[in-house]
Amino acid sequence: MRIIEAIDYEHMSSLAARFLIDKISTNPELVLGLATGGTPRGTYKRLIEDHRMNGTSYKEITTYNLDEYVGFSPDNPNSYHTFMSENLFSELDIQKNNIHLPNGVALDLVEECKAYEERIEKTGGIDIQLLGMGSNGHIGFNEPGTSFEANTHLVELTQSTREANARFFNHIDDVPHEAITMGIATIMRSREILLLVSGETKRSALKELLSGDVRESFPASVLNRHPHVTIIADQKAL
Ligand code: GLP
Repeated sequence: MRIIEAIDYEHMSSLAARFLIDKISTNPELVLGLATGGTPRGTYKRLIEDHRMNGTSYKEITTYNLDEYVGFSPDNPNSYHTFMSENLFSELDIQKNNIHLPNGVALDLVEECKAYEERIEKTGGIDIQLLGMGSNGHIGFNEPGTSFEANTHLVELTQSTREANARFFNHIDDVPHEAITMGIATIMRSREILLLVSGETKRSALKELLSGDVRESFPASVLNRHPHVTIIADQKAL
């Protein structure tokens, strides 16, 4: 595990964007796994700036997002589809057909999980998965206790995750109780992982991760078993 120390959130975002841009320049057909939340927002802003200024192209890039809320259609303002469109995709030259997120309003949600997994496989797997981390160690929406063997699946969100994500909603009651998420096994199949960690609220989770104690009660700890992980963390989190 390689750890890169950033001064602050802005610095972390610049380093993460640089990291991704270098990979995209080397392989314009990269398959990127993407995350939502506050952590990657600054990175996405910089990818957009770079696309405008330097013309880095996303025409042949394919993306798979980690997760989506159950019950939210793509045009719901609080869906992760909308988040990704507003924070990244609408500003890039990426092709709509190459963008993938789980469908939170699929009639058969279990079937949707299976299909999502198959789509990733068909594409040839994820080259680089970008991750944030919840303060309880969740990655994607894999809450503490999730089996490390899990593929894309349906999850019930913990109260603490719903509270943490309530800031994106008008009221906590509006935060869904369920989501579809790539599983830990799905994430671990990515060839490379970039984890971003920022702020004091993540400090104890990062410490826990770096302790090297791998256990299902702390999902992010599984990253200790991945051969190619880079963590960019800011000073408040370290
Ligand atoms: C959310 C997302 C995760 C994200 C995490 C941290 O619940 N499902 O993919 O990494 O929580 O969010 P934030 O970056 O806002 O702290």
